[in-house]
Amino acid sequence: MNLEQEINRRRTFAIISHPDAGKTTLTEKFLLYGGAIQLAGAVKGKKNSKHAVSDWMEIEKQRGISVTSSVMQFEYNNYCINILDTPGHQDFSEDTYRTLMAADSAVMVIDASRGIEPQTRKLFKVCAMRHIPIFTFINKMDREAKNPFDLMEELETEFGIGTYPVNWPIGSGNRFKGVYDRNKKHILAFDNSERGKRKAEKIEVSLDDPEQLYALLGEELTDQLIEDVELLDGASYEFDLDQVHHGQLTPVFFGSALTNFGVEPFLQNFLEMTPSPLARKAQDEIVDPVNSGFSAFVFKIQANMNKNHRDRIAFMRICSGKFDKDMSVYHVQRNKTMKLSQPQQMMAQEREVIDEAYAGDIIGVFDPGIFSIGDTVCDPKMKIKYDSIPTFAPEHFELVIQKDTLKRKQFVKGVTQIAQEGAIQIYQEPSTGVEKVYVGVVGVLQFEVLEHRLKQEYNVEIVREPLPYQYVRWIQNEEIDIKSLKISLDAKLLQDFRGNYLILFNSMYTIKSIMDRNPELILSEVNTK
Ligand code: G4P
Repeated sequence: MNLEQEINRRRTFAIISHPDAGKTTLTEKFLLYGGAIQLAGAVKGKKNSKHAVSDWMEIEKQRGISVTSSVMQFEYNNYCINILDTPGHQDFSEDTYRTLMAADSAVMVIDASRGIEPQTRKLFKVCAMRHIPIFTFINKMDREAKNPFDLMEELETEFGIGTYPVNWPIGSGNRFKGVYDRNKKHILAFDNSERGKRKAEKIEVSLDDPEQLYALLGEELTDQLIEDVELLDGASYEFDLDQVHHGQLTPVFFGSALTNFGVEPFLQNFLEMTPSPLARKAQDEIVDPVNSGFSAFVFKIQANMNKNHRDRIAFMRICSGKFDKDMSVYHVQRNKTMKLSQPQQMMAQEREVIDEAYAGDIIGVFDPGIFSIGDTVCDPKMKIKYDSIPTFAPEHFELVIQKDTLKRKQFVKGVTQIAQEGAIQIYQEPSTGVEKVYVGVVGVLQFEVLEHRLKQEYNVEIVREPLPYQYVRWIQNEEIDIKSLKISLDAKLLQDFRGNYLILFNSMYTIKSIMDRNPELILSEVNTK
């Protein structure tokens, strides 16, 4: 296979959802189709099978070290698939957002009985910012579901995108009979008693001949289906691949990951519709994945994946060309030519050292502490620089104080290094020492990770005090007399470690009232300096 064929067969995407919508179950089914994991009685062994996929993340959790998004690569139908997992629950962190920077598209899993939930909303915002294609899998149709038209409307009004249902559900819960494929004009029949052990049966149907349908679905569901499809054909969006590719139209699929219903057709349709690695912007240049040399950017840094070595792994998304393990690459931010050490890839739960990789792939390389989030590495002849990755505003804040004041040096080193990895943001009161550090995180688990790591790796114990703030805004004014600002007691003026001023607020109301009292103040949600 030549370079172009290798790159064109790659599909790199993230799966996003609110916790419990079924992301793990769906991912696991994808891996089963790809043969990346083999599990007997996939459905019955749910608890065990779930364990199999996320094993090394669980181990990390027990060790209390940085819990971050995982990457899995597998082959299916001659596609080479890279799935970027975005963790849910309290493991939600800035990393979750950054992972989306490395994906070319996203699969959004929605629980049919719940519709859009808070975390889906947050993750969708980041996808929309990048205009990447979004494919919706409405899961758990074997349970009582919301009206599918209401779900479409929710997606359209909340997210401001068009929807194109590729298939349409026939009933839900106990009365779930399957889905009607609008393009292929067949029904994929669901048989709950089989619980996914057998492939769903495809039944060719004509909606103009209800007799056959009556026998299959009964009168009520048949009439409903005919009416629904008429309505969809008349009133819903036309399919337009270009709009899909620009994130303006989301193809929607209904199914049930747990019972393995509708998963393979979804995967097949998705792989056909979703783009191969996309060209990326590097300042004024657009870097073509096939016709350029090797280039990649760091989107995540993970510390101590191996307990025995204090190593860091820098995860890079290859954006163009081919990577060879012995090649020399140019690290733009350090202005140095170097070799990437121990390049590796994730195959389900295993890591393996690789010799080569292509645009679209994610590689992890050993990082002796030289990489930062957003760094570019490339063929020394290219010297391009990818646009930086935005800093997302934390939502949880704590005050962190070292117990033993004699360990100040280790404490400062520890919090600074952990902040460099991008897991936490750190601030301090203007012109004071670093005994007290204000820490901001996107997901609360990061506080525990910080405490554990400071103890394990830096031998520093801390006391944590929760703070009532929920919002951070950076002061953008170039010249401002900080002392003259009128800041009420329900807000806190701080400096980040680069010296930029910022304010923590406990409510949107406080932001507004401080803006009113200081009309010259310019605030930003993102740190651009
Ligand atoms: P997540 O990664 O998005 O957090 O979700 P996960 O796949 O872990 O699924 C959350 C729960 O929902 C799981 O139950 C899973 O079995 C169930 N689930 C996933 N897909 C479907 C589906 O299509 N239909 C039904 N009925 N359930 C589904 P669990 O954690 O094992 O808990 P329990 O329900 O067994 O107690």
